[in-house]
Amino acid sequence: MFKSNPDDAQNVHDLREMAKKRLPKWLFEFVDRGTEDEVALRNNRAAFERIKLKTQVLVDVSKRDQETTLFGKRHDMPIGIAPTGAAGMLSYKGELSLARAAKAANIPFTLATGSTTSMEDVAKQVGGTLWFQLYMWSDVRLSHMLVERAKNAGFEALVVTVDGPVNTNREYNTRNGFTVPFRYNSKNTLDVLKHPGWMLGVLGRYLLTTGMPRRENYPTELKERYTQVSAAERKTRNDSLSWDDLQVLRDMWPGKLIVKGILTPQDAERAIAKGADGIVVSNHGGRNFDSSMAPIAVLPSIVDAVGHRTTVIVDSGFRRGSDVVKALALGAKLVLVGRSTLWGATVAEDVGVARAIQFYREEISRTMAYLGCRNVSELNRNLIEYTETPHLPLSM
Ligand SMILES: Cc1cc2nc3c(=O)[nH]c(=O)nc-3n(C[C@H](O)[C@H](O)[C@H](O)COP(=O)(O)O)c2cc1C
Repeated sequence: MFKSNPDDAQNVHDLREMAKKRLPKWLFEFVDRGTEDEVALRNNRAAFERIKLKTQVLVDVSKRDQETTLFGKRHDMPIGIAPTGAAGMLSYKGELSLARAAKAANIPFTLATGSTTSMEDVAKQVGGTLWFQLYMWSDVRLSHMLVERAKNAGFEALVVTVDGPVNTNREYNTRNGFTVPFRYNSKNTLDVLKHPGWMLGVLGRYLLTTGMPRRENYPTELKERYTQVSAAERKTRNDSLSWDDLQVLRDMWPGKLIVKGILTPQDAERAIAKGADGIVVSNHGGRNFDSSMAPIAVLPSIVDAVGHRTTVIVDSGFRRGSDVVKALALGAKLVLVGRSTLWGATVAEDVGVARAIQFYREEISRTMAYLGCRNVSELNRNLIEYTETPHLPLSM
């Protein structure tokens, strides 16, 4: 209903523009923006602009593939879908769209703790390579219940996010009236009314079927409507957690354990010492700590320290296939994308997500051709050149 045609988009920036038109401002900004002065958000992109790639000419690159082996499993592309709690708010049952498109593309999909579709439903209805993202809560009993459920539902990896010890400071949410718990006021109600496509196609559809989306993975005592977090908020604080809590998870979890939100070689070492099989070098897409370093900038030092002992994954700000190629050349094994596939889901559910993935596929392939590389194992640091750029990009 009132949907844009994702075929009209030429890249993920276009999908973002289409999503911007469809969504109420408070929801669009909740996804799109960073935190405080949004320095980290801009710096994530600027860091890519400082990295150039060296071309190699007259190499037969007529047969190229992007196959990637991760934890012993083959995937068709070196990207995966990052955990994002808001998918089900952007599009009706958005997590299912993300999971289906990931399965069709043979790439991993990470389901967020805060998702509005339960992990059991995603596993049962879709399957594919499924990872479960866990926020550890101070009430560890509740977190451990989630881990048990993820194990029983057959998730292959547990992605433990560690970069949010306290709530972040996203002032625009307050300004937009997107507060927790959510309170309808004339401003945000008018905002919804001005976006009938989303109001009828997402909100209306929920109201006619399951009711307002809730965080379906939360234990019953915390399972409130998505827009109300009062009780959950109290129990889900996690500023008292330590590496020992990770050790407990390692002992409980038989599958792959991935620690998300690492930005220094020292923390990478600590994660490995606790038995992590992989790490995600991430600053949460510039959403949490505004003075954080750009993941693509710190990636080489982390790969140098632990790359031979663990699987290094990276995210935050990847918008082009060439961004992905830069990370692989610097030693990452996989890139997670967050907002790009969310924009795809917003614009056209499964088809929109597939379109976002298609952009990465085509751009990675094109970049590899310019670099004279036929497969991802040929990407290496000799292809990298650092330069200074005179300006910061203004968006994303
Ligand atoms: C709307 C939104 C919700 C997110 N929710 C979560 C979450 O629940 N858990 C988590 O570990 N990361 C979450 N993230 C961070 C992503 O997993 C990922 O680190 C980030 O989006 C990558 O940056 P990118 O959006 O620039 O690709 C969220 C990101 C966005 C944009």
